Amino acid sequence: MKVLAFGASNSTHSINKQLAIYTAERVGGSELNIIDLNDFEVAIFSPERNTLSGVPEAIVQFVEHIQGADLIVISFAEYNSSYTAAFKNIFDWATQCKYQLFENKKLFLMATSPGTRGGLTVLESAIDRFPRHGAEIVGSFLFPEFHKNFDPEKGITDVDLLNSLHQKLKNIFLG
Ligand SMILES: Cc1cc2nc3c(=O)[nH]c(=O)nc-3n(C[C@H](O)[C@H](O)[C@H](O)COP(=O)(O)O)c2cc1C
Repeated sequence: MKVLAFGASNSTHSINKQLAIYTAERVGGSELNIIDLNDFEVAIFSPERNTLSGVPEAIVQFVEHIQGADLIVISFAEYNSSYTAAFKNIFDWATQCKYQLFENKKLFLMATSPGTRGGLTVLESAIDRFPRHGAEIVGSFLFPEFHKNFDPEKGITDVDLLNSLHQKLKNIFLG
């Protein structure tokens, strides 16, 4: 199983990227492809840009990464209760390139933040929206208070959260 993982953030110290990588490494796929949204930064989507110049090459490459995966692990940073502008721009372009962006793909969706809500609102948005682009959401995981519950060396330090994640990952294969 080919696994693609990324944090839906352009922060170079993204806690969501850390969580996505940590999780993807525990899925047990045969191949792990980790991407960074900074490598797909393009001008803000506009219908006129799309008509005049078409979908940028970086977005075509992003879509190819999606196409090459069996399972996609995404952890969303939450900005003002929504997607980061960095992710939303890539998502808007990518869905203009291929509306059924996640067709035949399994997705494991997560969110984390330093706060107690852990990015719940953005996670719910993605869970609601992504099936309309063909996604089969095989699990989701909300990880509150990242800095309290995650150690860069040891990983997840809260036993209940760790057990919950392991159970959800097991369910991917059972379900
Ligand atoms: C513009 C902005 C808006 C934010 N809004 C929220 C928010 O609505 N909810 C939340 O939990 N954290 C919010 N945060 C804090 C982020 O969760 C925090 O910066 C986190 O590290 C972002 O994830 P990342 O490190 O993966 O980029 C916000 C941060 C910024 C810069």
